[in-house]
Amino acid sequence: MMTQDELKQLVAKAAVQEILNLLPPQSLIGMGTGSTVNFLIDELQAHASYFQGVVSSSDKTTQRLQDRGFKVFDANQVQSLPLYIDGADEIDPHGNMIKGGGGALTREKIVASLADHFICICDASKLVSVLGLFPLPVEVIPMASAQIQRFLESIGGKVELRKVKSDLKQNFVTDNQAWILDVTGLVIDQPLELETELNQIPGVICSGIFAMQSADTLLVPIDEKVQTVHFGKDKNN
Ligand code: A5P
Repeated sequence: MMTQDELKQLVAKAAVQEILNLLPPQSLIGMGTGSTVNFLIDELQAHASYFQGVVSSSDKTTQRLQDRGFKVFDANQVQSLPLYIDGADEIDPHGNMIKGGGGALTREKIVASLADHFICICDASKLVSVLGLFPLPVEVIPMASAQIQRFLESIGGKVELRKVKSDLKQNFVTDNQAWILDVTGLVIDQPLELETELNQIPGVICSGIFAMQSADTLLVPIDEKVQTVHFGKDKNN
């Protein structure tokens, strides 16, 4: 049986073929963050010169891309992207996702919103029927965190301010110098509605619900074979 890392590598290899089939030479591409994306960057390295460059969603991804010979563009330098590719912490049968386990949710959503097409790559452990078992990350302006926590508790959430794993006395600080509230206990069966509601709260920078920027295509290994799922136009329902 393949390990989780071997499955991530398998889906990364399939993603390289999908990307090369979809994009003409000298295209720009948007790149997410996380361990699955790290495998993808490594697999794509041999084709670095095929691309004009990459718009990155985190400092970690930027570093890895530059170390492997990719040219990295700032999101402000591009008007649109043909493709964004990223992992997920959970994905539902409509292509809605929870993202941000690695803390890069805001930049991921910004780059995804520039793209015409979102390909999600993950292993089958991320497939769920309803979002919410994985703690929902909400990135917040620090001075608003207590007020936002009270709101999240009022809708049934249990909230934890994210800490640095190696030093639990320190708050985790994002690439945007903000904090993350991790919310459990929510059954997110109306992701678009909850994403919209959270977007209205002063001090919320971004939630990890990707319903407005849901996946168009999913690549996922099932029984050690990569399957491709295309989500229809009713994907947010
Ligand atoms: C990063 O902030 C996240 O959104 C990642 O895309 C997500 O956590 C998936 O990461 P893995 O590929 O490491 O599971």
